[in-house]
Amino acid sequence: MVHTRGWLVLCAAILGLFAVRTTAAARNATLADLPFLDDPDIYQDVLDFRRPPAGYEPARTDAEWEPIFRENLFEDLRKFTDRIAEAGGRKLSLRRLGEQLHKLLTHSHGSRVAVVVAIRGGRLYRYLPPGVANSQYLRRRIGRALRLLAVGARALGLALPDCVFTFNLHDTPLCRQLGGCRVPVFSLHKRFDAAANRSIDSDVLLPHLGHPFNRLLFYPWAAKDRRALLRATMQNSMDRNCTRAALARLSASAAGSAVLDAGFVDNKKRDWAMPDKLKRPYVGMSKHARYKFLINADGHVSSSRLGYIMQANSVVLRERSPWIEYYYRSLRHGVHVLEYDAGDVVQLLTEYGDPARDAELRAIANTSQHFVAKFLTPEGKVRYTVRALQEYAALFEGMTPGLMRKLAAGRALSDPRKEGGGLIDVTNAAVEEEQQPAEEDGDEDADEEEGDAATAAGDAGARLDSAGLNAINPKTLKPIVMGTINLRALLYILTNGKLGGDEDRLQRVRQVQLQAGVVPGRGGGGGWRT
Ligand SMILES: *[C@@H]1O[C@H](CO)[C@@H](O)[C@H](O)[C@H]1NC(C)=O
Ligand SMILES: *[C@@H]1O[C@H](CO)[C@@H](O)[C@H](O)[C@H]1NC(C)=O
Ligand SMILES: *[C@@H]1O[C@H](CO)[C@@H](O)[C@H](O)[C@H]1NC(C)=O
Ligand SMILES: *[C@@H]1O[C@H](CO)[C@@H](O)[C@H](O)[C@H]1NC(C)=O
Repeated sequence: MVHTRGWLVLCAAILGLFAVRTTAAARNATLADLPFLDDPDIYQDVLDFRRPPAGYEPARTDAEWEPIFRENLFEDLRKFTDRIAEAGGRKLSLRRLGEQLHKLLTHSHGSRVAVVVAIRGGRLYRYLPPGVANSQYLRRRIGRALRLLAVGARALGLALPDCVFTFNLHDTPLCRQLGGCRVPVFSLHKRFDAAANRSIDSDVLLPHLGHPFNRLLFYPWAAKDRRALLRATMQNSMDRNCTRAALARLSASAAGSAVLDAGFVDNKKRDWAMPDKLKRPYVGMSKHARYKFLINADGHVSSSRLGYIMQANSVVLRERSPWIEYYYRSLRHGVHVLEYDAGDVVQLLTEYGDPARDAELRAIANTSQHFVAKFLTPEGKVRYTVRALQEYAALFEGMTPGLMRKLAAGRALSDPRKEGGGLIDVTNAAVEEEQQPAEEDGDEDADEEEGDAATAAGDAGARLDSAGLNAINPKTLKPIVMGTINLRALLYILTNGKLGGDEDRLQRVRQVQLQAGVVPGRGGGGGWRT
């Protein structure tokens, strides 16, 4: 039924109409009814948009993006830009980058979670250390991220800068574990001290391109369940007293049951027989819109579910927590979200249950939904990533096309052989992307997203459109090239011969890498060959 409705909605959206399923009420909604569908004569069902209706278009101007970059990206880079300013404008050196790459890839944890990526003239090259090459999960994460970035940037007409960078694929940040980062390392999650207004980890955050927040869900405001919904997974790494568990306990208590519908759909914690009262049935993403409040609670780190629930015309409750993804610093309490912790959530919800505060809640729900539509769609994530890489490259002395020429001449970058892969047909890449099951994040409840994500399966058009790519015919695009990096040659050139030579410890690493090199990519023409 969900599938059928998904298609109906899609077809109706194409016609500029709104599809409905039920027959109880009198009329279909129109654009004028958004976002709260207040007329009781409208069909009481979830409207599910796969492309933005008028008024919900993605941000495309510098003026719109400026605050997002200032509050997030520039904040992440401040440590490095301050250092450059202190050094009288002397930029970061390539040698330092080489030294950090070396340290990272000989580090027991770093070498299991980080990859090196180089971009030259829009071609992408990567080095996967054995620990990453041997993990199907991490291989997929980096493959997917690079593919979406390359396809998205090209379709949006954005130039990827020539550069070499490190990308930490793990959910936890890396810089502290390395004893500090002297040049930026890109990560997906880190900690931020909101009271002190400064980052705890110096990792620079990039969007998780594998989570497409490309829907908008509307349900009549007056018909919503007044409680706050949370459906979560208990990860093995999480504590029994974590916020998710505290919310589930509250929800099962007399004090909390009136305002909360919170519980676990899955318990992955070993050695814990979770009490049945903490479990609740699965709720698909579109059904989330039927609740007035939607709760986000940390998993192992920040939960990427936040962007998904912001797609609904509901009020999002964000946990007061140091864990952030790249955009969280732009979310304000009382403007985009309501902040809570397990100690005050019942009081917060009780206070906002006062009908006199309804206008406040509507404003928050509307602002949050516009935020996701403007900034967090696949298109927005590609724009943010491209800008982050441009700012990153500009921090270095000599990270230029000239360097990349030198790397290519020194055999640090190898294009794929014509036969056997590396060349990706953009059209197929997009289709395959859609057919992949939702990614299983360490931190996230991938299964929960999957139920709904499946409605878009096979329909590359929806993804391409939501990425703002509909003006471009993918068939006219050239294939995207994915090559490999020879790490020793790269280090040798970056450090002017200090590292990467024959005596280098990395020799051992390289031997293993060569063995890992035969690990095949995903099946199909768009697969990766290491
Ligand atoms: C509502 O929309 C559906 C799908 O577009 C259409 O088939 C139906 O006739 C519409 N109903 C009314 C009452 O306009
Ligand atoms: C946080 O610090 C940045 C500069 O480091 C400043 O621009 C911003 O206004 C500060 N935010 C708050 C809420 O104090
Ligand atoms: C949970 O319990 C651990 C000890 O088992 C404690 O260190 C931690 O602070 C507690 N966390 C919360 C949120 O109460
Ligand atoms: C929702 O937010 C948009 C964008 O800020 C604004 O133009 C619109 O008037 C708001 N709608 C309501 C009902 O508050």
